[in-house]
Amino acid sequence: MRKYVDFLVIGSGIAGLTYALKVAKHGKVCIVTKSKMEDTATSYAQGGIAAVMYTPDSFEKHIQDTIIAGDSLCDENIVRITITESTERIKELIKWGAKFDKTKSGRYDLAKEGGHSEYRVLHHKDSTGLEIENTLLDQVHKHPNIEVLEDFFAIDLITQHHLGIEVNRRTINIECYGVYVLNPRTYLVDTILSKFTLIATGGAGNVYNVTTNPPIATGDGVAMVYRAKGVIENMEFIQFHPTALYNPNERPAFLITEALRGFGAILKNIDGREFMQKYDARLSLAPRDIVARAIDNEMKLTGDDYVCLDCHHLKKNEIIHHFPTIYAKCLSVGIDITRDMIPVVPAAHYICGGIKVDEFGRSSIANLYASGECSSTGLHGANRLASNSLLESLVFSHRAAQDVINRIKSVDFNFKIPDWNAEGMVLNEEMILVTQSMKELQSIMSSYVGIVRSNLRLKRAFDRLEILYNETEDLYDKSILTPRICELRNLINVGYLIIKMAMNRKESRGLHFSLDYPRSSERK
Ligand code: FAD
Ligand code: SIN
Repeated sequence: MRKYVDFLVIGSGIAGLTYALKVAKHGKVCIVTKSKMEDTATSYAQGGIAAVMYTPDSFEKHIQDTIIAGDSLCDENIVRITITESTERIKELIKWGAKFDKTKSGRYDLAKEGGHSEYRVLHHKDSTGLEIENTLLDQVHKHPNIEVLEDFFAIDLITQHHLGIEVNRRTINIECYGVYVLNPRTYLVDTILSKFTLIATGGAGNVYNVTTNPPIATGDGVAMVYRAKGVIENMEFIQFHPTALYNPNERPAFLITEALRGFGAILKNIDGREFMQKYDARLSLAPRDIVARAIDNEMKLTGDDYVCLDCHHLKKNEIIHHFPTIYAKCLSVGIDITRDMIPVVPAAHYICGGIKVDEFGRSSIANLYASGECSSTGLHGANRLASNSLLESLVFSHRAAQDVINRIKSVDFNFKIPDWNAEGMVLNEEMILVTQSMKELQSIMSSYVGIVRSNLRLKRAFDRLEILYNETEDLYDKSILTPRICELRNLINVGYLIIKMAMNRKESRGLHFSLDYPRSSERK
C-alpha cells in the first residue's frame, strides 16, 4: 500500500490526538498507532493536569516551581510559554468535553503534588488520563478528515537517505517525507507519504525492569529520529516515580498517584517509622527525584524490598471517593488502603529528554515535528514537575498545529520515494532470542543505569549493551520484521542514548545522580 496524506500523526495519546483535531480542518490526516487507539500512557494518567486556574496561584508561581523541580536546567522561555498558555489549553479540553472534579461551590477541585507550591492539579478522580483520552477519541471518531490505522507499526522515517543520498549527523538539510509502516494484515511494509509528520509515540519505560508505563512505551519515535540522524537530547534524565505498588509479578507496575501524598498519605518504613525528615524539609511532597532517591536509600539501609505509604489516618469515605481506582486495585490484591499500609517501590515512569524540538514542536529534520513524552522541549530540565506532562503535550501539539497550518501551501509530496526493500529477509523462528535479549537489556539498565549511577556502572552497562546491539542488528537485518524485533531494536537504541548521555554528564543534576559527582547537599 502506498498512501498520500497532508498530515501524518504517529501515536494516539494526548499529543497525537489534539494535534490531529487541530490540523484536520486544513487537510487529510492519518493517525498511525501500533496498538488499539486507547493503548496509551495517556489513558493511565492518574494525578491530573497542572494549570493555573485561580488566585492565590499565579503563572509566576507555577513557572518557579517548574524551574526549581528541573534543577535549573529548564529553558525558561519554554517554561513561560507553557505555563502562560496553560489556562487556554485547559479551557479547550473542557470545551471538547473533558470533565474535571469540582467542589460543592462549583470551582475546580485542585490537587497538590510534589514540588507544587499551590493547589493547581485538575483531575477526574484518580483516572484523569482515561477521561482525557476518551474525550479526544470521541472527537477524533467524529471527524471526517481523520483516518485511523490501528495496529500499524511505524518502522522508520523516510528521508533523502531512501533516495540514495548520503545523510549523516552533520547533514543540515535533512527532510522527512513520511514513514514506512508494518501492515498487520499483510505483514508487508507500506509507504505513507506526508507533507508533515508528527511523532507522538510517548515514552520508553520498558527499557527498565520495573515501570509504570504501558507495553507500547518502547521509545520508537526517539529511536527512529536518532536513526534518521535527527537531534536527541537529555536522555539521561529518567524519572522514577517514587510510589508504584509493590507487586513483583505485575507489569506494568500499578501507580499509586502522588496526589495521595498531596492528600495527606505519609511515607514510612515497613516498621511504621517516617523517614523523609532525614532527606528534605518538604517531606513526602519533595520533588520526585529526591523522594525516589530517599526510598532507594532506605531500602538499601533496611534491606527491605519496599517502603510503605500510610493513609489510615485519613477519612475512609474521602479516600474511597477521591481514589476509587487505587482503592479497588489494592483491595483486589488484599490491601485495604483505609486500614493497611500500601507497599510501594520506585518505578521508571517518564523520560524528560527525547527528540529536540523548538517552541513550535519543530525537530532538527524539516517537516518533522514531535510532541508529548517523546519530545524534549526544554520544559522539564533535569526533572519534570508532577502533572506537567499532559500540559506540555497540549501546548506543543497546539503550537505545532499552528505552524503546519501556516506552512501547508509551501510543501508538496516527494513522489520519487521507493517502496521498502524486503529482499533477502526470512521469518525469524527463534523468538526466544528477542525475548531473552529484552530481559537482558532491562536487567542491564535497572542494575547499572537506575536511580543511583556511577562511572563504573555506566561503563559496564555500555560494554554489555554493545554485545546486545550487535546481535540484534544482525538479527534485524536478516529477519522479516515483526513489532517485537523492532521494539527490541528501538529500546536498545534508547538504552544506548541514556547511557551515553549519562556518561557525558560529569555532575549530579536532577534525575541523574552519580556517586562520582556527589552534591554537597540536596537542592531546594
Ligand atoms: P502516549 O499517550 O503514550 O501515546 C503514545 C502513542 O504512540 C500510542 O498510541 C502508541 O501506540 C503509539 N506508538 C508508539 N510507538 C509507535 C510506533 N512505532 N508506531 C505506531 N504507533 C506508535 N502525566 C501527567 O501530566 N499527569 C499525570 O497524572 C500522569 N500520570 C501518569 C500515570 C502513569 C501510570 C503513567 C505511565 C504516566 C503518567 N503521566 C502523567 C505521564 C503522561 O501520561 C504521559 O507522559 C503522556 O500521556 C504521554 O502522552 P503522549 O501522547 O506523548 O504518548
Ligand atoms: C501521579 O499521579 O503521581 C503521576 C503524575 C505525573 O506523572 O505527572
